[in-house]
Amino acid sequence: MLLGTQRINEEGVLEIGGCSTVELAREFGTPLYVVDEEYFRQTCRAYRAAFESRYPNVQISFSGKAFAAMALFRIVEQEGLALDVSSGGELYTGLQAGFSPDRIVLHGSNKSQQELEAAVAHGVGRVAIDNLEEVARLQAVAEARGATVDVLIRVAPGVTADTHSHIQTGKLDTKFGLAIVGGAARAAAERARQAANLRLRGLHCHIGSQIFDLEPFRQATEMMVGLAAELREAFGFELADLDLGGGLGVRYLDGDQPPSLDEYAEAVTGAVRDQCEKHGMALPRLLEEPGRRLVGEAGTTLYTVGVVKEIPGVRTYVSVDGGMSDNPRPALYGARYEAIVANKAGEPRTAKVRVSGKHCESDTLIEELEAPEIAPGDILAVQTTGAYNYSMASNYNRMPRPAVVLVTGGTADLIVERERLEDLVRLDRIPERLRA
Ligand SMILES: Cc1ncc(COP(=O)(O)O)c(C=O)c1O
Repeated sequence: MLLGTQRINEEGVLEIGGCSTVELAREFGTPLYVVDEEYFRQTCRAYRAAFESRYPNVQISFSGKAFAAMALFRIVEQEGLALDVSSGGELYTGLQAGFSPDRIVLHGSNKSQQELEAAVAHGVGRVAIDNLEEVARLQAVAEARGATVDVLIRVAPGVTADTHSHIQTGKLDTKFGLAIVGGAARAAAERARQAANLRLRGLHCHIGSQIFDLEPFRQATEMMVGLAAELREAFGFELADLDLGGGLGVRYLDGDQPPSLDEYAEAVTGAVRDQCEKHGMALPRLLEEPGRRLVGEAGTTLYTVGVVKEIPGVRTYVSVDGGMSDNPRPALYGARYEAIVANKAGEPRTAKVRVSGKHCESDTLIEELEAPEIAPGDILAVQTTGAYNYSMASNYNRMPRPAVVLVTGGTADLIVERERLEDLVRLDRIPERLRA
């Protein structure tokens, strides 16, 4: 499978954005995250177009947690998208990248006092209230600053999406949001409405991630508009914003067939219209917060192959110079990937190997990869690593986090520097009593 601008050149080398991946590995070192700028921009545009052509009032936000880097936030802003953030750090990154605060939505199931204060101080566009206590906490912060804050209520619509249980976030049994069943969502909405410094603008939900089935999105929409109708009945609430989160899946494996953006937008906007008509409600502004779908397939990670160990009659292990520190998803929830041997991309795939990371765990990146004969020094390009890879990277085993390059039209720009060994100890302190 070739994604975005990936192609195999005359020398049989994988190119992305017109750059040879072998040259990128040589110039910037490995592991290296490569972001295909054109593909990322195209997907942002296609997402907007799919919704804007079907619905009168839409705001598409990039879910910053998927890949929180200033250069990517700049691209998102240039493409006319808003930004959703889930922590003070993501908010800071967005502001540093030049995002206008009123185009930022703050989420988080356990926001700290500093996060609430930063959101109010900077005047973010929306705060999604996640629990009952947060209504009072945010009201107090807003009052202290003499500000009025536009809020959404994060609702757990009780919908189970067909995805890994670790990324199902809209069901009843979840730490996220306020349930419809039992009345918590309604209670939070009532309190927010009564709070003098809060303006209740709408409802938000996010049912999970890497979802291929459109039915849960329709069900969630039905639940959300149904709740809005109940709130209108109860205290005359007008639904201005309906934020349906993100969650649409991407291609990790050859056979993966997620819905097209048009199919998805048709299902979502159709459901919003139907439900609003059913309840006699005006169409709200529709907010979407894709992360994975915008940036997932635009990212590729390059590794250099080190040890190749053949256990006769058992299997061949191919070890690369990264692993769970730059991509924890296989370890976290059994995520599966495709990869291309970048310097042998034109050769037939005659071998089956297991790709291992270098960490002190079993650290398997790919259980079974069909590949040409692999030798030490080869460059392995693991595909669809744009979402939740760089942003979930760690320093496990004191591995410096990899660099990120942005490629387009034959140009490669470094957008995040590789951590250096000095960076690893920069924040360490040795107490005086240990110095002797
Ligand atoms: C509130 C919220 N919105 C949007 C997203 C983005 O989800 P995805 O990357 O699946 O589109 C998430 C992901 O966890 C989320 O928690």
